[in-house]
Amino acid sequence: MSVPLRPDLAALPAYVAGRTVPGAIKLASNEMPLPPLPPVLDAIARTAAAGNRYPDIGVTALTARLAQEHDLDAARIAVGCGSVALCQQLVQAVCSPGDEVVFAWRSFEAYPIVSLIGHARGVPVPLDAGHVHDLDAMAAAITPSTRMVFVCNPNNPTGTAVRRDALVAFLDRVPEHVVVVLDEAYREFVTDPEVPDGLTLLGAHPNVVVLRTFSKAHRLAGLRVGFAVAPPELAATLRSVSIPFSVNSLAQAAAIAALDVLGQLQADCDDTVRERARVEAALRELGYAVPPSEANFVWLPLGEETTRFSEHALENKVVVRAFSPDGVRVSAGTPEENDLFLSAAASFPR
Ligand SMILES: Cc1ncc(COP(=O)(O)O)c(C=O)c1O
Repeated sequence: MSVPLRPDLAALPAYVAGRTVPGAIKLASNEMPLPPLPPVLDAIARTAAAGNRYPDIGVTALTARLAQEHDLDAARIAVGCGSVALCQQLVQAVCSPGDEVVFAWRSFEAYPIVSLIGHARGVPVPLDAGHVHDLDAMAAAITPSTRMVFVCNPNNPTGTAVRRDALVAFLDRVPEHVVVVLDEAYREFVTDPEVPDGLTLLGAHPNVVVLRTFSKAHRLAGLRVGFAVAPPELAATLRSVSIPFSVNSLAQAAAIAALDVLGQLQADCDDTVRERARVEAALRELGYAVPPSEANFVWLPLGEETTRFSEHALENKVVVRAFSPDGVRVSAGTPEENDLFLSAAASFPR
Protein backbone atom coordinates (compact mmCIF):
# COMPACT_ATOMS: atom_id res chain seq x y z
CA MET A 1 0.00 0.00 0.00
CA SER A 2 1.38 3.41 -0.88
CA VAL A 3 -0.56 5.37 1.73
CA PRO A 4 1.89 6.41 4.44
CA LEU A 5 0.71 5.23 7.85
CA ARG A 6 1.79 6.61 11.21
CA PRO A 7 5.12 4.79 11.68
CA ASP A 8 4.78 4.72 15.48
CA LEU A 9 1.65 2.58 15.21
CA ALA A 10 3.79 -0.34 14.03
CA ALA A 11 4.68 -0.77 17.72
CA LEU A 12 1.05 -0.71 18.88
CA PRO A 13 0.41 -3.76 21.08
CA ALA A 14 -2.80 -5.65 20.29
CA TYR A 15 -5.56 -5.68 22.91
CA VAL A 16 -5.91 -9.38 23.60
CA ALA A 17 -9.46 -10.21 24.62
CA GLY A 18 -10.31 -13.26 26.75
CA ARG A 19 -11.10 -16.14 24.40
CA THR A 20 -14.51 -17.76 24.03
CA VAL A 21 -14.08 -21.48 23.34
CA PRO A 22 -17.19 -23.54 22.54
CA GLY A 23 -17.75 -26.18 25.20
CA ALA A 24 -15.44 -24.52 27.74
CA ILE A 25 -16.35 -22.13 30.53
CA LYS A 26 -14.94 -18.63 30.23
CA LEU A 27 -13.18 -17.21 33.27
CA ALA A 28 -11.00 -14.99 31.11
CA SER A 29 -12.61 -11.56 30.90
CA ASN A 30 -13.66 -10.58 34.42
CA GLU A 31 -17.31 -10.64 33.43
CA MET A 32 -20.03 -11.44 35.92
CA PRO A 33 -21.32 -14.96 35.32
CA LEU A 34 -24.96 -13.82 35.48
CA PRO A 35 -26.95 -12.12 32.69
CA PRO A 36 -28.52 -8.68 33.11
CA LEU A 37 -31.48 -8.69 35.53
CA PRO A 38 -35.00 -8.96 34.02
CA PRO A 39 -35.94 -5.25 34.39
CA VAL A 40 -32.70 -4.36 32.59
CA LEU A 41 -33.47 -6.82 29.79
CA ASP A 42 -36.96 -5.27 29.52
CA ALA A 43 -35.46 -1.79 29.19
CA ILE A 44 -33.11 -3.04 26.47
CA ALA A 45 -35.97 -4.67 24.56
CA ARG A 46 -38.17 -1.56 24.83
CA THR A 47 -35.35 0.66 23.63
CA ALA A 48 -34.48 -1.68 20.77
CA ALA A 49 -37.94 -1.00 19.34
CA ALA A 50 -36.75 2.55 18.59
CA GLY A 51 -33.46 1.33 17.14
CA ASN A 52 -34.07 3.27 13.94
CA ARG A 53 -33.47 6.50 15.92
CA TYR A 54 -30.10 7.91 16.91
CA PRO A 55 -29.28 7.83 20.60
CA ASP A 56 -29.29 10.96 22.78
CA ILE A 57 -25.90 12.41 21.82
CA GLY A 58 -25.57 14.12 25.20
CA VAL A 59 -26.46 11.00 27.22
CA THR A 60 -28.61 13.39 29.24
CA ALA A 61 -30.83 11.11 31.29
CA LEU A 62 -28.04 8.74 32.33
CA THR A 63 -25.73 11.64 33.19
CA ALA A 64 -28.42 13.25 35.35
CA ARG A 65 -29.10 9.94 37.05
CA LEU A 66 -25.40 9.39 37.79
CA ALA A 67 -25.12 12.92 39.14
CA GLN A 68 -28.05 12.24 41.48
CA GLU A 69 -26.74 8.81 42.47
CA HIS A 70 -23.30 10.12 43.41
CA ASP A 71 -24.36 13.60 44.55
CA LEU A 72 -22.24 15.29 41.89
CA ASP A 73 -22.62 18.19 39.50
CA ALA A 74 -23.62 16.67 36.14
CA ALA A 75 -21.04 18.94 34.48
CA ARG A 76 -18.35 16.72 36.05
CA ILE A 77 -19.57 13.53 34.37
CA ALA A 78 -18.63 12.21 30.94
CA VAL A 79 -20.20 8.94 29.80
CA GLY A 80 -18.30 6.82 27.30
CA CYS A 81 -18.49 3.69 25.16
CA GLY A 82 -17.07 1.66 28.01
CA SER A 83 -14.48 3.10 30.37
CA VAL A 84 -11.77 1.94 27.98
CA ALA A 85 -12.99 4.57 25.50
CA LEU A 86 -12.68 7.14 28.27
CA CYS A 87 -9.07 6.04 28.91
CA GLN A 88 -8.35 6.90 25.29
CA GLN A 89 -10.35 10.14 25.41
CA LEU A 90 -8.41 11.18 28.51
CA VAL A 91 -5.08 10.86 26.70
CA GLN A 92 -6.52 12.67 23.68
CA ALA A 93 -7.88 15.44 25.90
CA VAL A 94 -4.75 16.01 27.93
CA CYS A 95 -1.62 14.90 26.06
CA SER A 96 0.29 16.53 23.24
CA PRO A 97 2.82 14.57 21.15
CA GLY A 98 5.77 13.52 23.30
CA ASP A 99 3.99 13.88 26.63
CA GLU A 100 4.30 11.01 29.07
CA VAL A 101 1.68 8.80 30.68
CA VAL A 102 2.79 6.84 33.74
CA PHE A 103 1.13 3.57 34.72
CA ALA A 104 1.97 0.47 36.74
CA TRP A 105 2.99 -2.69 34.95
CA ARG A 106 1.47 -5.14 34.79
CA SER A 107 -1.80 -3.34 34.79
CA PHE A 108 -4.78 -2.88 32.46
CA GLU A 109 -3.47 -3.71 29.01
CA ALA A 110 -5.23 -0.76 27.38
CA TYR A 111 -3.01 1.86 29.06
CA PRO A 112 0.03 1.46 26.76
CA ILE A 113 -2.29 1.18 23.75
CA VAL A 114 -4.29 4.34 24.41
CA SER A 115 -1.10 6.24 25.28
CA LEU A 116 0.46 5.42 21.95
CA ILE A 117 -2.74 6.10 20.01
CA GLY A 118 -2.89 9.48 21.75
CA HIS A 119 0.69 10.31 20.63
CA ALA A 120 1.95 10.08 24.22
CA ARG A 121 4.82 7.99 25.56
CA GLY A 122 3.75 5.27 27.97
CA VAL A 123 6.01 4.94 31.03
CA PRO A 124 5.45 1.56 32.70
CA VAL A 125 6.55 1.27 36.34
CA PRO A 126 6.97 -2.28 37.69
CA LEU A 127 4.61 -3.44 40.44
CA ASP A 128 6.31 -4.12 43.77
CA ALA A 129 7.21 -7.61 44.99
CA GLY A 130 3.68 -8.06 46.35
CA HIS A 131 2.16 -7.29 42.88
CA VAL A 132 0.90 -3.93 44.20
CA HIS A 133 1.33 -0.49 42.58
CA ASP A 134 4.72 0.88 43.64
CA LEU A 135 3.48 4.41 44.26
CA ASP A 136 6.89 5.69 45.36
CA ALA A 137 8.45 4.50 42.11
CA MET A 138 5.51 5.93 40.16
CA ALA A 139 5.93 9.33 41.82
CA ALA A 140 9.65 9.17 41.03
CA ALA A 141 8.82 8.40 37.37
CA ILE A 142 7.00 11.72 36.97
CA THR A 143 9.05 14.13 34.83
CA PRO A 144 8.32 17.59 33.43
CA SER A 145 6.82 15.76 30.39
CA THR A 146 4.33 13.73 32.45
CA ARG A 147 0.70 14.77 31.95
CA MET A 148 -1.18 11.76 33.26
CA VAL A 149 -0.89 8.83 35.68
CA PHE A 150 -3.20 5.83 35.66
CA VAL A 151 -3.75 4.15 39.02
CA CYS A 152 -5.81 0.99 38.58
CA ASN A 153 -7.44 0.28 41.93
CA PRO A 154 -7.94 -2.65 42.35
CA ASN A 155 -5.35 -3.53 39.75
CA ASN A 156 -6.20 -5.61 36.71
CA PRO A 157 -4.79 -8.30 36.42
CA THR A 158 -3.32 -8.78 39.92
CA GLY A 159 -6.42 -7.85 41.98
CA THR A 160 -4.25 -6.00 44.50
CA ALA A 161 -5.37 -2.62 45.80
CA VAL A 162 -3.68 0.45 47.23
CA ARG A 163 -4.97 1.81 50.51
CA ARG A 164 -6.08 5.29 51.42
CA ASP A 165 -2.94 6.44 53.28
CA ALA A 166 -0.58 5.34 50.53
CA LEU A 167 -2.80 6.79 47.81
CA VAL A 168 -3.27 10.14 49.55
CA ALA A 169 0.48 10.39 50.22
CA PHE A 170 1.03 9.73 46.50
CA LEU A 171 -1.57 12.29 45.42
CA ASP A 172 0.12 14.85 47.66
CA ARG A 173 3.36 14.28 45.74
CA VAL A 174 1.90 14.56 42.23
CA PRO A 175 2.14 18.06 40.73
CA GLU A 176 -1.27 19.71 40.29
CA HIS A 177 -0.97 19.91 36.49
CA VAL A 178 -0.66 16.10 36.22
CA VAL A 179 -3.98 14.28 35.94
CA VAL A 180 -4.28 11.18 38.11
CA VAL A 181 -6.84 8.74 36.74
CA LEU A 182 -8.18 6.37 39.39
CA ASP A 183 -9.55 3.50 37.35
CA GLU A 184 -12.09 1.81 39.60
CA ALA A 185 -13.63 -0.73 37.22
CA TYR A 186 -13.84 -3.25 40.08
CA ARG A 187 -14.93 -0.93 42.88
CA GLU A 188 -18.05 -2.96 43.77
CA PHE A 189 -15.93 -5.99 44.70
CA VAL A 190 -13.70 -4.16 47.20
CA THR A 191 -14.12 -5.37 50.78
CA ASP A 192 -11.04 -3.86 52.47
CA PRO A 193 -12.38 -0.72 54.20
CA GLU A 194 -8.93 0.87 53.87
CA VAL A 195 -9.22 0.90 50.08
CA PRO A 196 -10.74 4.29 49.34
CA ASP A 197 -13.66 5.12 47.08
CA GLY A 198 -11.95 7.49 44.64
CA LEU A 199 -14.98 9.77 44.60
CA THR A 200 -14.20 10.72 48.22
CA LEU A 201 -10.78 12.02 47.14
CA LEU A 202 -11.99 14.45 44.49
CA GLY A 203 -12.62 17.35 46.87
CA ALA A 204 -9.07 17.49 48.21
CA HIS A 205 -7.39 16.60 44.89
CA PRO A 206 -8.77 18.56 41.94
CA ASN A 207 -6.44 16.81 39.48
CA VAL A 208 -8.06 13.40 40.12
CA VAL A 209 -10.38 11.70 37.64
CA VAL A 210 -12.38 8.62 38.62
CA LEU A 211 -13.35 6.01 36.04
CA ARG A 212 -16.20 3.55 36.58
CA THR A 213 -17.83 1.00 34.30
CA PHE A 214 -21.16 -0.76 33.87
CA SER A 215 -19.33 -3.79 32.42
CA LYS A 216 -18.59 -5.68 35.62
CA ALA A 217 -20.94 -5.34 38.62
CA HIS A 218 -23.79 -4.10 36.39
CA ARG A 219 -23.40 -7.01 33.93
CA LEU A 220 -23.47 -4.88 30.79
CA ALA A 221 -20.05 -5.62 29.26
CA GLY A 222 -21.63 -6.30 25.88
CA LEU A 223 -23.45 -2.98 25.80
CA ARG A 224 -20.39 -0.78 26.36
CA VAL A 225 -20.94 1.98 28.88
CA GLY A 226 -18.76 3.58 31.53
CA PHE A 227 -18.24 7.05 32.96
CA ALA A 228 -15.62 9.48 34.17
CA VAL A 229 -15.93 11.98 36.98
CA ALA A 230 -13.55 14.83 36.23
CA PRO A 231 -13.18 18.58 36.73
CA PRO A 232 -15.92 20.25 34.61
CA GLU A 233 -13.54 21.60 31.91
CA LEU A 234 -11.90 18.21 31.48
CA ALA A 235 -15.28 16.43 31.46
CA ALA A 236 -16.42 18.81 28.71
CA THR A 237 -13.29 18.05 26.68
CA LEU A 238 -13.81 14.32 27.18
CA ARG A 239 -17.28 14.73 25.72
CA SER A 240 -16.01 16.81 22.82
CA VAL A 241 -13.31 14.31 21.74
CA SER A 242 -15.78 11.42 21.89
CA ILE A 243 -16.99 9.82 18.68
CA PRO A 244 -20.52 11.23 18.25
CA PHE A 245 -23.28 8.82 19.37
CA SER A 246 -20.74 6.30 20.68
CA VAL A 247 -22.90 5.54 23.74
CA ASN A 248 -25.74 3.70 22.03
CA SER A 249 -29.36 3.94 23.10
CA LEU A 250 -29.55 0.38 24.48
CA ALA A 251 -26.52 1.07 26.67
CA GLN A 252 -28.01 4.31 27.98
CA ALA A 253 -31.36 2.71 28.83
CA ALA A 254 -29.78 -0.43 30.29
CA ALA A 255 -27.46 1.58 32.54
CA ILE A 256 -30.37 3.57 33.98
CA ALA A 257 -32.36 0.37 34.52
CA ALA A 258 -29.34 -1.22 36.22
CA LEU A 259 -29.12 1.74 38.60
CA ASP A 260 -32.74 1.01 39.54
CA VAL A 261 -31.75 -2.50 40.73
CA LEU A 262 -28.42 -1.67 42.30
CA GLY A 263 -29.28 -3.44 45.56
CA GLN A 264 -29.73 -6.80 43.82
CA LEU A 265 -26.65 -6.25 41.66
CA GLN A 266 -24.52 -5.49 44.73
CA ALA A 267 -25.88 -8.58 46.52
CA ASP A 268 -24.76 -10.70 43.55
CA CYS A 269 -21.35 -8.99 43.65
CA ASP A 270 -21.13 -9.95 47.32
CA ASP A 271 -21.70 -13.59 46.30
CA THR A 272 -18.90 -13.23 43.76
CA VAL A 273 -16.65 -11.84 46.48
CA ARG A 274 -17.39 -14.90 48.64
CA GLU A 275 -16.50 -17.14 45.71
CA ARG A 276 -13.31 -15.15 45.11
CA ALA A 277 -12.32 -15.73 48.74
CA ARG A 278 -13.10 -19.44 48.44
CA VAL A 279 -11.06 -19.80 45.24
CA GLU A 280 -8.17 -17.84 46.75
CA ALA A 281 -8.13 -20.00 49.88
CA ALA A 282 -8.40 -23.24 47.90
CA LEU A 283 -5.54 -22.23 45.60
CA ARG A 284 -3.32 -21.41 48.56
CA GLU A 285 -4.23 -24.75 50.08
CA LEU A 286 -3.01 -26.34 46.84
CA GLY A 287 0.30 -24.53 47.25
CA TYR A 288 -0.19 -21.67 44.80
CA ALA A 289 0.99 -18.17 45.69
CA VAL A 290 -2.02 -15.87 45.29
CA PRO A 291 -1.88 -12.17 46.17
CA PRO A 292 -4.95 -10.92 48.05
CA SER A 293 -7.59 -9.80 45.54
CA GLU A 294 -10.09 -6.99 45.96
CA ALA A 295 -11.65 -7.61 42.54
CA ASN A 296 -13.76 -10.33 40.87
CA PHE A 297 -10.71 -12.34 39.83
CA VAL A 298 -7.54 -13.85 41.23
CA TRP A 299 -3.96 -13.72 40.00
CA LEU A 300 -1.55 -16.61 39.86
CA PRO A 301 1.98 -15.28 39.35
CA LEU A 302 3.17 -18.41 37.56
CA GLY A 303 6.01 -16.86 35.58
CA GLU A 304 7.38 -19.29 32.97
CA GLU A 305 4.60 -21.79 33.82
CA THR A 306 1.92 -19.37 32.63
CA THR A 307 1.27 -20.82 29.17
CA ARG A 308 1.48 -24.42 30.33
CA PHE A 309 -1.05 -23.70 33.11
CA SER A 310 -3.53 -21.99 30.79
CA GLU A 311 -3.26 -24.83 28.27
CA HIS A 312 -3.86 -27.34 31.05
CA ALA A 313 -6.93 -25.36 32.19
CA LEU A 314 -8.25 -25.37 28.63
CA GLU A 315 -7.76 -29.13 28.36
CA ASN A 316 -10.01 -29.22 31.43
CA LYS A 317 -12.58 -27.01 29.71
CA VAL A 318 -11.75 -23.76 31.50
CA VAL A 319 -10.56 -20.67 29.65
CA VAL A 320 -8.33 -18.46 31.82
CA ARG A 321 -6.39 -15.38 30.76
CA ALA A 322 -2.67 -15.93 30.37
CA PHE A 323 -0.34 -12.92 30.53
CA SER A 324 2.85 -14.65 29.55
CA PRO A 325 5.44 -14.67 31.08
CA ASP A 326 3.96 -13.12 34.22
CA GLY A 327 0.93 -15.07 35.29
CA VAL A 328 -2.65 -16.16 34.86
CA ARG A 329 -5.78 -14.23 35.76
CA VAL A 330 -8.91 -16.19 36.61
CA SER A 331 -12.30 -14.54 36.99
CA ALA A 332 -14.62 -15.70 39.75
CA GLY A 333 -17.55 -17.53 38.13
CA THR A 334 -20.45 -19.49 39.53
CA PRO A 335 -19.62 -22.00 42.30
CA GLU A 336 -19.79 -24.86 39.77
CA GLU A 337 -17.49 -23.05 37.34
CA ASN A 338 -15.05 -22.28 40.11
CA ASP A 339 -15.07 -25.92 41.23
CA LEU A 340 -14.19 -26.98 37.69
CA PHE A 341 -11.33 -24.48 37.66
CA LEU A 342 -10.08 -25.61 41.07
CA SER A 343 -9.99 -29.25 39.98
CA ALA A 344 -7.97 -28.17 36.92
CA ALA A 345 -5.59 -26.27 39.20
CA ALA A 346 -5.33 -29.33 41.48
CA SER A 347 -4.41 -31.62 38.59
CA PHE A 348 -1.83 -29.25 37.08
CA PRO A 349 1.48 -31.16 37.06
CA ARG A 350 4.12 -29.10 38.87
C1 LIG B 1 -9.10 -1.74 35.00
C2 LIG B 1 -10.05 -1.68 33.86
N1 LIG B 1 -10.42 -0.49 33.40
C3 LIG B 1 -11.28 -0.39 32.39
C4 LIG B 1 -11.79 -1.50 31.78
C5 LIG B 1 -12.69 -1.32 30.63
O1 LIG B 1 -13.97 -1.62 30.88
P1 LIG B 1 -15.11 -1.22 29.87
O2 LIG B 1 -14.48 -0.57 28.68
O3 LIG B 1 -15.79 -2.48 29.54
O4 LIG B 1 -15.95 -0.23 30.62
C6 LIG B 1 -11.43 -2.77 32.22
C7 LIG B 1 -11.95 -3.96 31.56
O5 LIG B 1 -11.58 -5.06 31.75
C8 LIG B 1 -10.53 -2.85 33.29
O6 LIG B 1 -10.13 -4.02 33.75
